[in-house]
This record gives sequence, structure tokens and C-alpha cells, in this order.
Amino acid sequence: MIGRLNHVAIAVPDLDAAVAVYRDTLGARVHDPQDQPEHGVTVVFIDLPNTKIELVHPLGAASPVAAFLARNPAGGIHHICYEVADIAAARDRLVAAGARVLGGGEPKIGAHGKPVLFLHPKDFNGCLVELEQV
Ligand code: CO
Repeated sequence: MIGRLNHVAIAVPDLDAAVAVYRDTLGARVHDPQDQPEHGVTVVFIDLPNTKIELVHPLGAASPVAAFLARNPAGGIHHICYEVADIAAARDRLVAAGARVLGGGEPKIGAHGKPVLFLHPKDFNGCLVELEQV
């Protein structure tokens, strides 16, 4: 069901510093920051030849990433995103298998303007999983 790895997301306490590391130290192509108020984050995408990195930084007081950074002050891998062809079919299959879909199970529009869902990390080996319909 899942397809390509769309991105690996890294929560960062200092977005400008993280951008500098990827742009200047690692020599990657770094995009401009995008505010995602519905998700409580500011994101910066970085292109790699075979996938993307998504730097995520809290936006607003209720950001889910703020709690993650409170537990991981230096930052860390926050989620991985797999591509699916049909997000509603993927959700229905996962729910039938007993997996927990976060946020009530209705897809939201993600950073690429496409529908996304998040899956509970306890059902996926401790890793928060994002599904993006492509
Ligand atoms: Co993501």
C-alpha cells in the first residue's frame, strides 16, 4: 500500500540554525520557510536526490512540536512520510487493522497542498507516520 518515502521530518529548536547547517555545511538545496497554522508548525523543505527533509519548528502556543522539543531539546526525527495513492482507502484499511489515525481520521491539507494523515506512533514501532496522497 505505501509507496515512496516522501520526506523525513526533523524537529528543530532553531530554524535559522538548522537551515544554515543544511544549506551551508551540507550543501543542500533549501526552500523558503512556510507557516502551516493548521498544523502548528513552520516548515522548511530541503531537496535531496531521492527524497526530502522537512525541518519543523513550532508555530503558535498549541503546537504539537513544542511538546516534542520539550522532551528532545536538541531536536530529533519527528516523523516519516510515506506516499499513498488513495488516502481514504489507506485510512480505512489501517482502521480496519486496528491502527489509530490521529485527529479524527479526516485528512488535512499538508505542506505540499495534498491530503495528509498522521498515524499513532505506538502502532508503528515508536515512529509517528504521515501519509500523503500523491
Ligand atoms: Co511531514
